[in-house]
Parts: sequence; C-alpha cells; structure tokens
Amino acid sequence: MIRLEDGFYAVENTCHHAGCRLSFYGGVRKDKKIVCTRHGAVFDLKDGAIIEGPAQSPLKVYSLRVANVELRVEL
Ligand code: FES
Repeated sequence: MIRLEDGFYAVENTCHHAGCRLSFYGGVRKDKKIVCTRHGAVFDLKDGAIIEGPAQSPLKVYSLRVANVELRVEL
C-alpha cells in the first residue's frame, strides 16, 4: 500500500520482469509512476499499466475501502 498526498493506492508488490519486490526495489515518482530500480520498468500507480519496459505485464491494482477507521484492501 502506498500513501500519497491525494490518498492511498494498493498495487501488487512484485515486478513482472524478474520478480523483484517493489517494496525494496521500487520507488514512486511525483507523477504517480512506480519505478522498479532493478532494471528500469515503470508502471502507472493508478491502473498498473506498463509505461516503460522491460516488464511484459502490468501490475495488479486493488480497490481500497474505508471502513470506520480502517483502510481495507479488496483482494
Ligand atoms: S525486476 Fe523490475 S525491471 Fe527487472
């Protein structure tokens, strides 16, 4: 889960290029793109789409729901 100024986002934690954990190798740019620093793949945080290779498939994105004071990820 990623928290930005405009809210929370939930995407899977694995880059589809070589299976790196994005929580370790990833970074989020100000334009809401996730960069896998391992080999340079770039994904759109909002829909998981591939912006730049070498990844061959997009990231899964998950819906979030606020329930009272909890934030729940819908898997
Ligand atoms: S593992 Fe992410 S770009 Fe290679």
